[in-house]
Amino acid sequence: MTSTTASHAADLVAALLFILSLAGLSQHRTSRVGVVYGIAGMALALVATIVVAAQSLTAGAIALILVAMVIGAVAGLWRARSVEMTQMPELIAVLHSFVGLAAVLVGWDSYLEVESHGTAQTRIAADLLGIHHAEVFIGIFIGAVTFTGSIVAFLKLSARINSRPLMLPGKNAANLGALALFVALTVWFTISPDLPLMITVTVLALALGWHLVASIGGGDMPVVVSMLNSYSGWAAAAAGFLLDNNLLIVTGALVGSSGAYLSYIMCKAMNRSFISVIAGGFGIEAPSGGQEDQGEHREVRAEEVAELLTRAGSVIIAPGYGMAVAQAQHPVAELTRRLRERGVEVRFGVHPVAGRLPGHMNVLLAEAKVPYDIVLEMDEINEDFSGTSVVLVIGANDTVNPAAAEDPGSPIAGMPVLRVWEAEQVVVFKRSMASGYAGVQNPLFFRDNSSMLFGDAKQSVDEILRALGTDVAAPAAREQAGAR
Ligand code: TAP
Repeated sequence: MTSTTASHAADLVAALLFILSLAGLSQHRTSRVGVVYGIAGMALALVATIVVAAQSLTAGAIALILVAMVIGAVAGLWRARSVEMTQMPELIAVLHSFVGLAAVLVGWDSYLEVESHGTAQTRIAADLLGIHHAEVFIGIFIGAVTFTGSIVAFLKLSARINSRPLMLPGKNAANLGALALFVALTVWFTISPDLPLMITVTVLALALGWHLVASIGGGDMPVVVSMLNSYSGWAAAAAGFLLDNNLLIVTGALVGSSGAYLSYIMCKAMNRSFISVIAGGFGIEAPSGGQEDQGEHREVRAEEVAELLTRAGSVIIAPGYGMAVAQAQHPVAELTRRLRERGVEVRFGVHPVAGRLPGHMNVLLAEAKVPYDIVLEMDEINEDFSGTSVVLVIGANDTVNPAAAEDPGSPIAGMPVLRVWEAEQVVVFKRSMASGYAGVQNPLFFRDNSSMLFGDAKQSVDEILRALGTDVAAPAAREQAGAR
């Protein structure tokens, strides 16, 4: 078998491993196996690429590749070990920006190579030069949009800039105009591949990526992250065409299409228009309502909540981002166990975008060994709030905001939410009256059947366990036993 045939075979096996990885990752029971398939596929792809490259490269160039790989691996391992679960979306956004930047650099490199050597010393046939020019142009455009878009997403998700949407006058016309200009420039470039056009498309795409993501805000940010995931896949596929690397094309297409499908599912779950979100909030006008004075709120103490729970027939827990910040999942799991032992029906209602990444709450609850069958999706549980004695909202805010359902002027109007306010009593666990991720006031806190339990969610649940007569050290001990 020649090394080229071996490399094609390795590409095929790696592509299959990536498909198996995606299939594994689609369910939490098989997700670990999915990760193993992904690692195996990537390791195989790297080895095959280096073996093929080694035939035409000098020893010095190969040494440089290996040094770059070692630096990348060390940086990757360090970030993977140190990143907090709550920082995952911003880390993912940064990683997407690298893919975008790489696609831009590959495009420029490919252009300069053809310009300086002509087709004679490159692998491109003279009659395919027009197609190559189009590939270069499209690759740079997608890469640059992904690059700046991901940087804005990172800045918004890490709260380095405000997450509110930028509402420039005529923003929709500007986005559409930029797209039309790109199409016209692509045609021009295939006829006359000049340097000023390369510079123009790079600057245009960098500005468009920045504006597209800056125009989206609040509740739509989760979709932006998965949308950028999709863009980074298409950018990688474009780079694959330029580098003549089939595996990169296949992998990019897998990432691109799965990211697009995830964005579509999330838009459906949040009642958002998919086209509007991918087009940078196309058609969305500046929201007006949501910040009016809502009146007085009522406070409770942990002991009172414990008493309320002992009298309850049914309890639904609505967890959110604050539960992740407080790392309250273990005491929450302990509280669930205790209440169920006392004959109280306890279930969880999980909103599709609770927390900061898809499945965030499910991962935390699974880690704390909450039984899967009592963790329900929003659609499965939303009808049941009206027949429930007590709802505990633990660190959730936007995902339980009645304004989304009742105030058409609210920035999150139309987003389906957990209808917790329909229960007899609602207790909201948070540290202050501050708003949630979307920066919107929550009228739930001021309802007659709502009360606020202020403090860190973990400490509050620990205090309730103490008041119920539970050894609060138990969750930690159980956690350690589980780890062993
Ligand atoms: P949020 O609306 O983000 O609200 C979380 C609440 O937790 C805050 O109001 C905060 O209030 C409270 N909190 C923070 N730390 C706490 C602690 N240690 N103890 C107790 N409470 C604490 O949460 P949500 O309902 O889960 O909604 C998620 C939001 O994030 C949505 O707007 C969603 O669109 C967005 N988002 C989601 C994703 C994905 S994919 N899930 C990705 C990006 C953005 P205090 O400061 O007063 O404590």
